[in-house]
Amino acid sequence: MADISYGLIGGGVMGLEHIRYVNKMNHADIVSVVEPNKLQRNLCKKEIPSAEFMSLENLLVSKNIDAVIVSTPNHTHFEILKLLFKSEIKNILLEKPVITDPGDVLKIKKMAQEWGGKIWVGMEYRYMAPISELLKETQAGTIGIPRMMMVREHRNPFLKKVGDWNRFNKNTGGTLVEKCCHFFDLMHLFLDSNPKKVFASGSMDVNHINEHYKEGKPDIIDNAFVIVDFENGKRAMLDLCMFAEGAKYQEELSITGDRGRIDAQVPATWAKNSDEPTNGRLIVNMRKSLRPEVRTISVPKDLLKIGSHFGSTWYEHLGFLSMIRNNLKPEVTLNDGLRAVIIGMAAEKSTRTGRQIDLDGIFDNHGNVISDVSELRC
Ligand SMILES: NC(=O)c1ccc[n+]([C@@H]2O[C@H](COP(=O)([O-])OP(=O)(O)OC[C@H]3O[C@@H](n4cnc5c(N)ncnc54)[C@H](O)[C@@H]3O)[C@@H](O)[C@H]2O)c1
Repeated sequence: MADISYGLIGGGVMGLEHIRYVNKMNHADIVSVVEPNKLQRNLCKKEIPSAEFMSLENLLVSKNIDAVIVSTPNHTHFEILKLLFKSEIKNILLEKPVITDPGDVLKIKKMAQEWGGKIWVGMEYRYMAPISELLKETQAGTIGIPRMMMVREHRNPFLKKVGDWNRFNKNTGGTLVEKCCHFFDLMHLFLDSNPKKVFASGSMDVNHINEHYKEGKPDIIDNAFVIVDFENGKRAMLDLCMFAEGAKYQEELSITGDRGRIDAQVPATWAKNSDEPTNGRLIVNMRKSLRPEVRTISVPKDLLKIGSHFGSTWYEHLGFLSMIRNNLKPEVTLNDGLRAVIIGMAAEKSTRTGRQIDLDGIFDNHGNVISDVSELRC
């Protein structure tokens, strides 16, 4: 019998991934679910037959819930968080991006402080095995002082979502917020400094062009380059292409320092269902040796099969559970989630204006968001 009980708000694609990983854990159960869509409710019921399906109002006053997972469309996060922050629930795992409107950044920070619970933002990419190995090597000083970081994601187009919410910037915050906040979070984690300047170029060139919905034609971009300069002089770039599902590796990261470069490669999502090897790789290229060392990074097949993020959601859940049981701090804080979103908002603004966006004065010396960023609204 599990000793920690979860509520789940939103049982769509990502909510079902959370259910499957929580089901694998011995010490946690999802006991309550809020899901307005009948089809999704039925899919959830198949995975967790004993869970109770209820309204959000009822979940907020439940006495038997230790933690809540929020996995609803991006534009609903702010209103749901507002309600959770008034409840007795003290542990939240919130899917990224934290919010979609730049005007809500300081409001959400203030409300979270008044609430006083723990919120962990779902930055699953931190827990992809090749990426966490890359971080360990970087922090161990293998390549000396990191100077440059490159992130490439070449993947399939956005999946179809319940109600097609992800086709519109007003619901997602824009592709560079929705999808790429993961990468901006990684840039900060690896380069350990506040973002200073952001320049981006992107557009919708291939996907969604012939799609039509009740709300009109999609307005999200499907490819972009983004350059981010950091206060400590380090720099990073993102190369995003969402019409490149043929790529063997979906995410490729390189971090280069004065002594060498290390690459991390994460296999494409389709590889888990094919005969292709599903292993990731770490490639250590030192300037002195000129002989790259290739390391294979594998994840147990059962972890790969039940999710779409190279098993990372499992490792995230282990951390979240440990936070609750051992009264630890969240590894991915609300501030981390907001910082990543702010870089994404600046990048969206840059693609639309053609200008570099300065982030001076937005963060304090500890990386905390301290200023209103409403002017990033597009
Ligand atoms: N971390 C990752 O790598 C990752 C991957 C995919 C999605 N996500 C995030 O997860 C969240 C959900 O995305 P998804 O892909 O599951 O979308 P989805 O459309 O498949 O699922 C969203 C679900 O939420 C339900 N819903 C909508 N409004 C609700 C409300 N007010 N209360 C309760 N339920 C509500 C919908 O009926 C739907 O079933 C998004 O924020 C998305 O950005 C994160």
